[in-house]
Amino acid sequence: MLAARKNSTMTNNHTNHRTQPSGPPLIQCRRLTKTYKKGDNTITPLQELDLDVPAGDFLALMGPSGSGKTTLLNLIAGIDRPSGGQLIIGGTDISTLSRSKLADWRSVNVGYVFQLYNLVPVLTAYENVELPLLLHSMSAKDRHEKVQTAMQLVGIADRHDHYPRQLSGGQEQRVAIARAIVTDPTIIVGDEPTGDLDQESAQAIMDLMVRLCEDLGKTLIIVTHDAKSAAYAKRTLHLEKGRLVEAELLATRHAPLVPQEA
Ligand SMILES: Nc1ncnc2c1ncn2[C@@H]1O[C@H](COP(=O)(O)OP(=O)(O)OP(=O)(O)O)[C@@H](O)[C@H]1O
Ligand SMILES: [Mg+2]
Repeated sequence: MLAARKNSTMTNNHTNHRTQPSGPPLIQCRRLTKTYKKGDNTITPLQELDLDVPAGDFLALMGPSGSGKTTLLNLIAGIDRPSGGQLIIGGTDISTLSRSKLADWRSVNVGYVFQLYNLVPVLTAYENVELPLLLHSMSAKDRHEKVQTAMQLVGIADRHDHYPRQLSGGQEQRVAIARAIVTDPTIIVGDEPTGDLDQESAQAIMDLMVRLCEDLGKTLIIVTHDAKSAAYAKRTLHLEKGRLVEAELLATRHAPLVPQEA
């Protein structure tokens, strides 16, 4: 599918999610709760959170440090499991899956882009991108084609043999994105994917994210502290203390202290 969709990239045939047939949202969080127990203390990073994410959405999550952004991302990505509530993705309540079934589900459905420095240093760019495919049974030829396609899509095909230390931060992040899309997952999540990049590289990475959404029809959720990066998304939601904050409430809080003249 990745290769087939790539043609639409080349013809610049943008897919608009608003024209897609409406159905249930791809991701449905219902009273989603996460708690951690530390001795006598219970920490609740997510409290009965309700969230719908339609297929083809590009959602930016913002909020103060400790507000539960990574926790939410990790639940949606199937890296961690909820303590309560439902998390229905593509019709499957992934909160009911066993750890091993969840790992299988994740390897097919989700690509994860971390902040930076999560490439394996002793592997080349090509080998890093190839890594997730080793979990799937396929011929060496198919694997090679998929790695080539993913690296071409992110514009890093000329860096096959480079090790991460031989790449710039922006190039490393392109390799990380190629690795996230190489299995052709439906959902791509990024935890501060531009957090360590200069502005120009961050913009290039966000442009690439937009293309993954618009051209390849991926559903993206990224966490960012940077309003400029969030502006690339179709919508932004704010978390505070494990709950989503209504946009109106934020607008009131950010209202000018001195009343504007009519
Ligand atoms: N494994 C864990 N065990 C105990 N507490 C945890 C664990 N993971 C996260 N927490 C707590 O949950 C809360 C939310 O953490 P989370 O990492 O989701 O925040 P965040 O919004 O991503 O913050 P930041 O912007 O700093 O990355 C924090 O109080 C954190 O200490
Ligand atoms: Mg975080």
